[in-house]
Formats: sequence, C-alpha cells, structure tokens
Amino acid sequence: MKYSKYYKLIEEQAKIFDKTQNCQIGQTWKYHLLPVIQNACMLAEKYGADKDIVEVAAIFHDYADLLDFANRENHHILGAELAEGVLIQDGFSQEFVDKVKLCIINHRASVVNQKFSKEEICVADADAMSHLDSVVELICWRAYLGEDISTCNKFVKTKIQKSYAKMSKESQQLMKDKYESIMKVLL
Ligand SMILES: [Fe+2]
Ligand SMILES: [Fe+2]
Repeated sequence: MKYSKYYKLIEEQAKIFDKTQNCQIGQTWKYHLLPVIQNACMLAEKYGADKDIVEVAAIFHDYADLLDFANRENHHILGAELAEGVLIQDGFSQEFVDKVKLCIINHRASVVNQKFSKEEICVADADAMSHLDSVVELICWRAYLGEDISTCNKFVKTKIQKSYAKMSKESQQLMKDKYESIMKVLL
C-alpha cells in the first residue's frame, strides 16, 4: 500500500483516542477513519479527482482530534498544519501539500466553507458518508461518554442532518435512501 506508513500512524493514534474516549479499541479506525479513506478513494475515481491528494487528506483529516479531543473546534485547521509538517518532512512538494491542506480545512460539516476542487468535495463527502454508514458507531460513542438517550439522539440526528446537508448533490443522490431511513429511526 502506497501510504502504509500514514495508515499505521493514524491507526495507532486512533487506538489512543479510543482509550481516552472510553470507546472500544479499534472502533474509530474501523468505523470512521478507514471508511472515510475508502469512500474518498471511491469518490475520487467517480468524480475524476486526484486520488493521491484525496487519499492522503482523508488519512489525516481528523488527525488533530485523535491527538487531543480538546482540539475538536479547530481540528480541521490544526490537522492541516500537522499533516503539512509530516508531508514536507517526507519530501512532498509544497503544491501537493497545499492541496491536501485545503481538503482537510474544508472537510467539516459544521464549518461551511466554499469548496473549489474536486478533491475537497471527495474528502468532505466521504467524511459525511461515513457518518451515515456507521450511525451505530456514533450512537455507541455517545453512549460510552455517558449521554442519556435524548442527548445522544439529538447529537446523532444533528450530525446526520449536517453531514447530509454538506454533501455534493451527486453524493446526496448516492446516500438518499440511507439518509431517509436513518431519519425515520431517530427520534
Ligand atoms: Fe473531522
Ligand atoms: Fe471525520
């Protein structure tokens, strides 16, 4: 695998994150990070985006969160800077790194930034799609944190709605059935 070093780095950091978040070890990697990377690569092919930029950005998209969840509010900005440090050290060009950074900065549902490239759309859509694919993981995570049913339901519902709203029209079409089904189940 071309970027196996980065897969390993993020998977190991995700295990530490799971411990601090009272999650089952491996949960965040298996149900969020890996699906985001896989979905992003699938979308890159479908939408004709640069797969290398998309794959590397997807790998690092939540890196700042994994290091410290206190970074949550700025994890898109901090994550882009952290990825830059790693990638520049590994000899990637500034042009490549800048495109990766834009994808990380613009991946969040709660921060609606204009997206200018196909690569940014692929990473943001893949992140949103994984929330719909792994809705049970979201529910379990909040439950592990000790939230009651109504708080947990509200958190998950808002996250799913924002995730769907931020997707491109094409990706919304792909996820429409699943989105409507999830909305019927949530309170
Ligand atoms: Fe994120
Ligand atoms: Fe994410």
